[in-house]
Amino acid sequence: MSVNSTDPVNSIDPMDRLIIALDLPDVGAATDMVARVGDAANFYKIGLELTYGGGLELARRLVGEGKKVFLDLKLHDIPNTVARATAQVADMGAAFLTIHAYPQTMRAARGALGGSSLQLLAVTVMTSYDDNDLREAGYGLGVKELVARRATQARDAGVHGIVLSAEEAPDIRALVGPNTRLVTPGIRQAGGDVGDQKRVMTPTRAIRGGADHLVVGRPITQAPDPRAAALSFLAEIRAAAI
Ligand code: C5P
Repeated sequence: MSVNSTDPVNSIDPMDRLIIALDLPDVGAATDMVARVGDAANFYKIGLELTYGGGLELARRLVGEGKKVFLDLKLHDIPNTVARATAQVADMGAAFLTIHAYPQTMRAARGALGGSSLQLLAVTVMTSYDDNDLREAGYGLGVKELVARRATQARDAGVHGIVLSAEEAPDIRALVGPNTRLVTPGIRQAGGDVGDQKRVMTPTRAIRGGADHLVVGRPITQAPDPRAAALSFLAEIRAAAI
């Protein structure tokens, strides 16, 4: 099963539910990690650090090898620039691209997809922001209200999914309905090292709470055996998604 925009969200292949965050400093380390994971996973997230260290070439290579790539670029600019950048990412064959959930940005990116299978994920409010940070930045809404407003705007703009913490998933699922993909980081198996994440959830609870895709970084990339760690996450996802 592919991650095409025509797939009903609830029929996602468990392999497509697990997205490994390649938060590694360079392409060599990332290439090595993908090889160590092997066929235990097929979906990789490339963020800003790796992107600026040659990650776009890696993304093209992974796509060429039949893997799925989530480019976490968090685009936000004037509509023309967003549209052109989105079209470039679509041409690369990436599966997911993040954009900030500003209405102009979302509409511009949506309009640039053409016939590609690229899916857009909206970032509503960065999880490092609390109500005080929003006030400081000039917003009149608190985090909860702004997340809800932007989630609805994302759905209405035809954006395919939303990145959010697993804790928010049940409320946002109720708000946006069944057809928006919910993608959640901050996932740890029971007893796993939390690292710098403050709010974590197990794969089982995240999926049962409405998450469609789980982004997992260090629990897999820093495991002594990344392949075994990926298989363990996959097994839990399979069991929870039944
Ligand atoms: O290593 P860990 O599993 O904590 O990595 C989580 C990934 O999800 C990282 O790439 C991180 O940047 C990303 N992320 C997050 N929290 C958000 C949005 C993205 O942890 N709110």
